[in-house]
Amino acid sequence: MENLREVIESRRSIRKYLPDEVPEDFIKDVITAATHAPSGCNSQCWKFIVVRDKNLLEQIALAAEVGIRDFYRDTPDFESVIDRRIRQITFFRHAPAVIFVFMTKMAYYDPRVMEYYHQKGFSDRQMLDALGYPDVLSVGAAVQNMLLTIHAGGYGACWMNDPIIAAREICQVLGLSDESQLLSVIPFGKPAYAPRSKVFKPMEDILEIR
Ligand SMILES: Cc1cc2nc3c(=O)[nH]c(=O)nc-3n(C[C@H](O)[C@H](O)[C@H](O)COP(=O)(O)O)c2cc1C
Repeated sequence: MENLREVIESRRSIRKYLPDEVPEDFIKDVITAATHAPSGCNSQCWKFIVVRDKNLLEQIALAAEVGIRDFYRDTPDFESVIDRRIRQITFFRHAPAVIFVFMTKMAYYDPRVMEYYHQKGFSDRQMLDALGYPDVLSVGAAVQNMLLTIHAGGYGACWMNDPIIAAREICQVLGLSDESQLLSVIPFGKPAYAPRSKVFKPMEDILEIR
């Protein structure tokens, strides 16, 4: 698929995959696409771990199950919903490859900007929130580049944030500290089905040209 518009408009979330292995060269293409995304102050505040090892992926999913149970424990209908919820959140375990997307610290070109916010009593996080989450947005741009590259290469992916409720447990299995900011999980592989068509909001509901 060569045409950018065609790639953008035909990309869909894919949640079931054929067992075909994802070649290392293609994984590197996908991560290269991520690195070409814009980022606040060119901070390139991202890091990626790609897991193809089935045993490791199963360990991650089992650890995530613990975190998910913990998160939903107090809900009134816990017993009746938890198994389904776990299946929905851990389907990434069946993918031939999964990208774990991390956000790293974002710094400003000009340290005086940060100094100014610190003087006003802002922490780094409060400063970035006040500025409209440039670090989170940068990682989001990288994720979209990856999704489009995956799709253009004949694969399918799903951008997942539900597993983040078990970020601590997932990071433990990956040997990372609690401070590692796991932001998204992206399972991908050759699509095992064709997605149903999707309804779009009408242009007049989402656009104002003044
Ligand atoms: C930030 C973000 C988080 C998402 N998290 C999940 C998720 O945890 N589980 C899931 O199945 N889909 C998840 N999705 C996929 C959305 O459900 C999907 O993009 C949406 O329904 C539109 O469908 P499409 O991607 O096929 O166009 C997420 C999408 C985004 C952008």
